[in-house]
Amino acid sequence: MSRRQDRMILVAFADPNALYQSNPERQRDPRRLGLANFIAHAKLAESAGFDAIFKPDFLGFDISKGSVRPRPGFEPLTLLSALSQHTSRLGLIITESTSFNEPYNVARYFTSLDNISDGRASWNVVTSYYGEGNFGDGTLLPLAERYRKAEEFMQVAYRLWDGWLPGSVSYGAQGPLFDAKQIRDTNFAGEFFKVKEPLDIPPGPQGRPVIVQAGASDEGLDFAARHAEIVFAAAPDHETGADFYAELKRRTVAAGRPAAQLKILPGLNIFVADSQAEAEDLYQAQFTDRALLAYRDKLVREAPLFRIDTLELDERIPAEAIPGEAALRQVERRRSRGLLLRKYLSRPDQTLRRFLSDVFEFGHLTLIGTPSHIAGEMAAWFEARAADGFVLKGGNSFPRVAQEILPILREKDVLRPPAAGLTFREALFDDAAA
Ligand SMILES: Cc1cc2nc3c(=O)[nH]c(=O)nc-3n(C[C@H](O)[C@H](O)[C@H](O)COP(=O)(O)O)c2cc1C
Repeated sequence: MSRRQDRMILVAFADPNALYQSNPERQRDPRRLGLANFIAHAKLAESAGFDAIFKPDFLGFDISKGSVRPRPGFEPLTLLSALSQHTSRLGLIITESTSFNEPYNVARYFTSLDNISDGRASWNVVTSYYGEGNFGDGTLLPLAERYRKAEEFMQVAYRLWDGWLPGSVSYGAQGPLFDAKQIRDTNFAGEFFKVKEPLDIPPGPQGRPVIVQAGASDEGLDFAARHAEIVFAAAPDHETGADFYAELKRRTVAAGRPAAQLKILPGLNIFVADSQAEAEDLYQAQFTDRALLAYRDKLVREAPLFRIDTLELDERIPAEAIPGEAALRQVERRRSRGLLLRKYLSRPDQTLRRFLSDVFEFGHLTLIGTPSHIAGEMAAWFEARAADGFVLKGGNSFPRVAQEILPILREKDVLRPPAAGLTFREALFDDAAA
């Protein structure tokens, strides 16, 4: 197979803890969650060669689940808007829900952010599987309907973003001048939304934000094939990654889009040390019996069809603990995750301990070892078309990833800096030849 001509795309979760992972003293300091550390992290990510920072988000806070922690004081839109003022190149990926928002508000937020950031706004479109108690009539639509609503949401948002035609705004000595004849009313009336007027602010440099998506159900994959420019995937091993990649690219072409217009980025955790053994120890250190049992209890609360609540850690998984696939396909919340959990629970001779450590990172990839080993694995996923890049979620040392692993990827020529002065979209698809 010939070497790829396009470059690897790297995204990092915005994470103020990332700078202090190896410093327990600093980890206990409450100031570590402050804005200054988010800024320091974003600046390091940008200077190291990451393409974007990403803030996942959920619109609920269930205090009855002890393990759910409050956010460190910021929601994504205002946080990344602040970070845009301390960076110049990073894409800013913000999660907004199509179930608990109106398209007019969301389209306006992203146009404003695109103007604030000189063309770096990006929207992680989620349909949400939780939070309904805080919105509207308090119900969550079934999965297929949530995606139908999301589809309509996108159509309205596109009309809003495309409503200002080229030439509709010019800048004179008095400030912006609008040519009302070049601005279209939205005039949308559908099943879920009605919007009459155009946006009241001119488009940003990108027009539309870069669309990101992360649903993995059938409906979610088709939605991604139609709309997404980046997909944040959960692929714990090479085979799953390569299958997912081929399937989603196939659906993208079937939806009438070039495969290269969609970048598939699996979530990644990195445990890096000077030797393989040391890195393994760091990785295994998180799997204390206590942590695993707490994780078992969390899974039981979230996915009650998995009957693992009374199992001991080193017990083999009995057949009756594994829910049937048909039952999981009826579940309306986190359906794709349930199917992934089932795959791991059903492995031959599986024990509860191995299952829990396998899925500890929600089915995301974990790479463990020396900087050169990890860079080699990342390049191999990229070259084998199991990934177009990665979303770095966590691990033991963000500074080592930035300062030791990324330079090796650059030496291998899979990670290449884009030209200066591009919008986020232009930088993403700068060399999209594949
Ligand atoms: C890797 C991954 C990351 C996700 N991140 C978020 C998130 O930050 N916020 C959210 O509300 N939903 C998130 N989701 C949920 C999806 O976007 C989607 O709304 C949900 O999974 C239901 O669709 P699905 O069954 O197609 O996955 C994520 C899903 C996946 C697979």
